[in-house]
Amino acid sequence: MKFDKHLSSRTHEVEWSGIRIMFALADETPDVVNLGIGQPDFDTPEFIRDAAKKALDDGYTRYPPAKGFEDLRQAIARKLQRENNIIADPDTDIYVAVGAMQVIFNTCLHLLNKGDEVIVIDPGYDYYSQIRLFGGVPVPVPARESNRFKVDPDDIKAAITDKTKLMIINTPSNPTGAIFDANILRAIAQLAMEHDLIVLSDEPYEHILFDGNQHLSIGSFDGMAQRTISAFTLSKSYAMTGWRVGYTVAPPAVIDEMEKLMEHMVSGVTAVAQRAALAAIEAPQDCVREMVNTYDKRRRIVHEGLNAIDGIQCLNPESTFYAFPNISSFGLSSWEFARYLVKEHQVAVVPGSIFGQSGEGYVRLSFAASIGQLKEGIARIRRGIEALKS
Ligand SMILES: Cc1ncc(COP(=O)(O)O)c(C=O)c1O
Repeated sequence: MKFDKHLSSRTHEVEWSGIRIMFALADETPDVVNLGIGQPDFDTPEFIRDAAKKALDDGYTRYPPAKGFEDLRQAIARKLQRENNIIADPDTDIYVAVGAMQVIFNTCLHLLNKGDEVIVIDPGYDYYSQIRLFGGVPVPVPARESNRFKVDPDDIKAAITDKTKLMIINTPSNPTGAIFDANILRAIAQLAMEHDLIVLSDEPYEHILFDGNQHLSIGSFDGMAQRTISAFTLSKSYAMTGWRVGYTVAPPAVIDEMEKLMEHMVSGVTAVAQRAALAAIEAPQDCVREMVNTYDKRRRIVHEGLNAIDGIQCLNPESTFYAFPNISSFGLSSWEFARYLVKEHQVAVVPGSIFGQSGEGYVRLSFAASIGQLKEGIARIRRGIEALKS
């Protein structure tokens, strides 16, 4: 029996993510150096794993409260005040989610009606499927390499129409490693207030910053608390991608909707994972600093190694563990380039066009990989490019 006819068009029409397609290609390549993966290569720090083991023995094996344990929400409120300059009431403003991804999904679910326009940054993280799933229309706004991939608020202004409902910003940015500074965020906040828009501020890389850069949360700007949904996660900062814990701070009406739907969807975030998250947030943050220092060393190798290859230009990422080199001089599309590298030279990178049409002409490399892998990966890219030219 062909089952497809039974599937709802709502989900069946959603496309598989381009990254998955790329990883399938990498998986079938023997001896591949995979520089495509967007997750820390470190193990979750031991004290966090120990907290989870203890939680199991302490009986955290039952349904958790739908919006997260109270002590975890209190710890999150303290962290938001300490690090993000956001004042949040743990009872009404905070919700523990299955990663930042659930916050993004739920934001689209709760806010979008058919035809609502959503401004996204291009190149930027792929929010297109979630937006379309709920009838929204993504409106990409370019972030140009000539401006170090920082969005120009005038471009956002030009994209706003009377159908615009939501703007999604992601600083520090995956895939470009760009940080939006206070002036940019202030201008975006001003636009949100003038046009009565909601901002979804997706901040998974808040701690992965280099060269003394500071992270700013748009939700902390005057007048923004009542129109910002901020998404945070334990995934990247604590090498906890598999634990699936994130959280949001948002206006109480949004938190209520999330809590209500959580009961109908998955009934809460795994109890032990929440206890591990509590240990991570409350602890001294040395483990985060150590991982960021390691990323910083690798960043130098990637930045120098790529720029030493004739025809590649690569900005030095200010944050995250991604480099986003310009490969347009080789005359191949970013998919053609990535496919060629993985098939002929056993090195996987992510085509830039996955991150929007302005990502065409770029690829994303992750330096969440060992120095040995990075050097070998860059050597393979160099050989691939030499072979292309000969
Ligand atoms: C920009 C961005 N948002 C959200 C996510 C999802 O994070 P989580 O693991 O918390 O669901 C990622 C993960 O790669 C990301 O890069």
